[in-house]
Amino acid sequence: MTTFDIPVRLETERLIVRPHEPVDHDQVATLVTTGDASTALPPGRPSAVEEVMEWLTEGVHGLRRSGAGVHLAIVTKDGELVGGISLHGTDWETGITEVGYGVGPMFRGQGIAPEAVRAVTRWAFSLGLHRVELRTIPENEASRRVAAKAGFTYEGTLRQAQREDDGLHDLLVFSFLADEVVA
Ligand SMILES: CC(C)(COP(=O)(O)OP(=O)(O)OC[C@H]1O[C@@H](n2cnc3c(N)ncnc32)[C@H](O)[C@@H]1OP(=O)(O)O)[C@@H](O)C(=O)NCCC(=O)NCCS
Repeated sequence: MTTFDIPVRLETERLIVRPHEPVDHDQVATLVTTGDASTALPPGRPSAVEEVMEWLTEGVHGLRRSGAGVHLAIVTKDGELVGGISLHGTDWETGITEVGYGVGPMFRGQGIAPEAVRAVTRWAFSLGLHRVELRTIPENEASRRVAAKAGFTYEGTLRQAQREDDGLHDLLVFSFLADEVVA
């Protein structure tokens, strides 16, 4: 397997992780108008309601079509779109990918991101990848907790490897390996 271009629908105890769909239009439009889109939707998200349908049918699927990754929606079993999770920077030859995620402010603190990360990591292994990386700036305490709660191992720090609006930051690198999965 060397592509993310296959149907995916991951079910966890509380969540469904699946591609963004046109049926998400109204919820995505609400996220855009409330300003919560910046964390509940992946990079490349629409900035105006008029852009939502085009993003749902085309834009959000560009990463998957490129082969380098995939953006997926995190939805509760009640159908509420609570966040997004992505695999990106995938190197199929070496079997490495990186996970990224965000949860809407209203839904944080319930363990949603770790639950989705665990599911997506195992899915990545099922596609033949063997290493999932997770990178975060040290100042992002919540993201560091996600790495720990999802069972990732801290490997080291890339110094001044990330530029944010307020300047350069170090990047902490965590990973989970396929042979660390406990059945
Ligand atoms: C990082 C993020 C995805 C965590 O998602 P989550 O579903 O809230 O994850 P958890 O519920 O496991 O909480 C993780 C930590 O967030 C903190 N937290 C708890 N409740 C919180 C709340 N209501 N609001 C903000 N942070 C909270 C706690 O430190 C918690 O760790 P703990 O469970 O050991 O106390 C979320 O905070 C987010 O979307 N942040 C902005 C985007 C981002 O930083 N993405 C990662 C980039 S590397």
